[in-house]
Amino acid sequence: YARKAFITGNWKLNPQTKDEAIELATGIASAVTDDSPCDVALFVPFPYIESVQETVGDKVIIGAEATTPQINGAFTGGVSPVMLKSIGCTWALAGHSERRVIFKESDEEINEQCKMLIEHDMNVVLCIGETLEEFEKELVGAVCEIQLKKGLAGIDKKDLDKVTIAYEPVWAIGTGKVATPEIAQSVHETIRGILKGMYGEKIADSTRILYGGSVSPESVDGLVAKPDIDGALVGGASLNAEGFGRIINHES
Ligand code: G3H
Repeated sequence: YARKAFITGNWKLNPQTKDEAIELATGIASAVTDDSPCDVALFVPFPYIESVQETVGDKVIIGAEATTPQINGAFTGGVSPVMLKSIGCTWALAGHSERRVIFKESDEEINEQCKMLIEHDMNVVLCIGETLEEFEKELVGAVCEIQLKKGLAGIDKKDLDKVTIAYEPVWAIGTGKVATPEIAQSVHETIRGILKGMYGEKIADSTRILYGGSVSPESVDGLVAKPDIDGALVGGASLNAEGFGRIINHES
């Protein structure tokens, strides 16, 4: 089934100023050409969304790193899908492991975020993945199943075209320990199987599943060569325009 590759970057709490953000975005956008083998997205801090969007034009999708599911009211610090949409931003991450661990977001809250994004006709990259302890106990399939089923609960089949899944083993995030293409492929195959059980074969075959965790210009080719790995969610390496450009223009 033809799934176009999707290379995405997550800037996290970087870079430190708007000027640096624009400079980085300019470099990344210049790496995206008509020959690039993929769609490209960058998830950036809220204050940079509009200026970075202006910088990259149509070449790169710009999204938010997190959202608040409530639409208005007394939720200090919150940023809703409606606010994002009003500035032309229609993509967001949900359930990144740093949101789960540091900001204590539960599967239920992550599900609310996903549902609210979809309700407002936005696209979501739902991040899932196991810790090192869970990996060692061979709980990868079980953890992915729970996070997928809870994260996507109540989301209808017809809306799955707005959903991308990112598999990010927590032990591979920011550690330099990238999962081998074989390990990642086997988990992606499992995830596709879970999606098939939830939504049927057609949806499972058309949903993009990205790998994240220490992806680099050196490791990207081996990963995306695997049949169920449709691209990458890149943290650290998306902060270097030249390196991220090489990831964008990977072997295909
Ligand atoms: O969202 C991106 C992931 O957390 C991966 O981060 O590439 O720095 O390991 P990393």
